[in-house]
Amino acid sequence: MPNAGWWEALWPDPAGTLAAVGIAPGMEVIDLCSGDGWFTMQIAKVARHVIAIDIDPNLLGVARHRLNESGVTNCDFMPGDAYDLTQLVRQPADFVFLANAFHGVPDQPRLARAVLEALKPTGRFAVVNWHQRRREETKVLGEPRGPKTELRLAPEQTIKTVEAGGLKLAQLIEVPPYHYGAVFKRPP
Ligand SMILES: C[S@@+](CC[C@H](N)C(=O)[O-])C[C@H]1O[C@@H](n2cnc3c(N)ncnc32)[C@H](O)[C@@H]1O
Repeated sequence: MPNAGWWEALWPDPAGTLAAVGIAPGMEVIDLCSGDGWFTMQIAKVARHVIAIDIDPNLLGVARHRLNESGVTNCDFMPGDAYDLTQLVRQPADFVFLANAFHGVPDQPRLARAVLEALKPTGRFAVVNWHQRRREETKVLGEPRGPKTELRLAPEQTIKTVEAGGLKLAQLIEVPPYHYGAVFKRPP
C-alpha cells in the first residue's frame, strides 16, 4: 500500500473516478482489495452500503479508522482473499470496484469468475489500472510511482483476461493522468 502524500496527490478527486465508472446512489458496492480505504470512504459517501475487503487486516484497520473518524457508518470491513468473494459476501452486489490491484492477481480469470458470481444480473465490475507505461514515466511529486513496468497491463490485456472469466466489457474510460478504467457487465 502506498504511503499517504503522493497517493493523495495522484488521486485528488476519487469521487470523480467513482462517478466515471458508474458508482451511483443506492448501490450495494464491494470495494475489493480496498487497502487503507482511500476509495472506500468516497464510495460510502455515494452508495447505500459498501463492503471493504482486503487480505491485510492491518490495512483494513486503517480504513476502519479513516471512515470512523469521518462518521461514516454504512461500511463493513471484511478481511479475506479476493478469490473467496462469494464466501465472504452472501448478498449479490450492484458494483464491485477494484483499483490498483488487478496487475498483482496471479490468476486473473479466476478472480473475474468470482466477481461474476458475486454480482446481481445488472451488476458492474470496474477495474482501475495503471496504464502500461514505463515506471520512470509515471511520476508523482517528482518520483516514479506505481507497480513495476513489467507488471503493468494494457487495457486490451485486462479486457481479455476479465472476459476469459465470463464478464463482458461495457465501457473503457481514461482516468488521468496514468490510469484507465475498464467496466464490465454480466453477459445476458
Ligand atoms: C496498491 S493497494 C490498492 C488499495 C486500494 N484499492 C486503492 O486503490 O487505494 C493493493 C491492495 O490489494 C490487497 N490485496 C492483495 N492481494 C489480495 C488478495 N488476494 N485478496 C484481497 N486483497 C488483496 C493488498 O493488501 C493491498 O491493500
